[in-house]
Amino acid sequence: MTLALIVAAGSGERLRAARPKALVELGGRPMLQWSLDALASVAGIERIVLALPAGVALPPAMRMPAIEVRSVEGGAARSDSVARALAAAGEGDPVLVHDAARPLLTPQLARAVIDALERDPQAAAAIAAVPVTDTVKRVDGDGVVRETLDRRELWAVQTPQLFRRAALERALETSAQERARATDDAWLVERQGGRVIVVRAGEENLKVTTPIDLQLAELLLAARGARGGDPA
Ligand code: C5P
Repeated sequence: MTLALIVAAGSGERLRAARPKALVELGGRPMLQWSLDALASVAGIERIVLALPAGVALPPAMRMPAIEVRSVEGGAARSDSVARALAAAGEGDPVLVHDAARPLLTPQLARAVIDALERDPQAAAAIAAVPVTDTVKRVDGDGVVRETLDRRELWAVQTPQLFRRAALERALETSAQERARATDDAWLVERQGGRVIVVRAGEENLKVTTPIDLQLAELLLAARGARGGDPA
């Protein structure tokens, strides 16, 4: 049985909203509702754990799906929120981790990540990602370009990220400083030598960080609704 964790405990300062980012209204619902509904409809996912900001209750507008949903208080850093959600999750393996900040998640993408890990017994994790289309340069503190990276090897990583539970638990057992450095959980697994494979996702699975991202997400969800909910 696959467990799903949705991390939603960030404050979302860059969005400049009055409430935590995951609860900002998007397409007429709290942002978190989109990911919750998408994951609840994936066959094999039987429990979802939400990591919420301290002292924040789910708004009455949130609708709970038919499967079991638990809530925990998130931690100081993203990976702390993952660790807390996992500790409260009960049985289940593998473990899917998703950011509430990616409301355009489709059940199809979650399924593709689950299938990819099933197909590769050596892999510790399978993660959604897209090939980078921009040219990426390493720039020093003085604003001087030090290196141009080979774009053919670069992928921009998203969530969902799916882990074999033992690998994720071991990876999270690191110092608070390392957990604070981790912008994704797969990095913690890679550092321990775990094999992490990418699953090609779409650009539309964007991360809502700034007000422009929110507008874009709104437009994409409206377009999806106009197609009758078809996520393609
Ligand atoms: O801050 P960032 O946009 O990278 O956050 C990615 C995801 O991690 C968001 O869904 C956010 O709610 C979550 N998060 C969390 N706990 C934190 C920080 C971020 O659950 N302490």
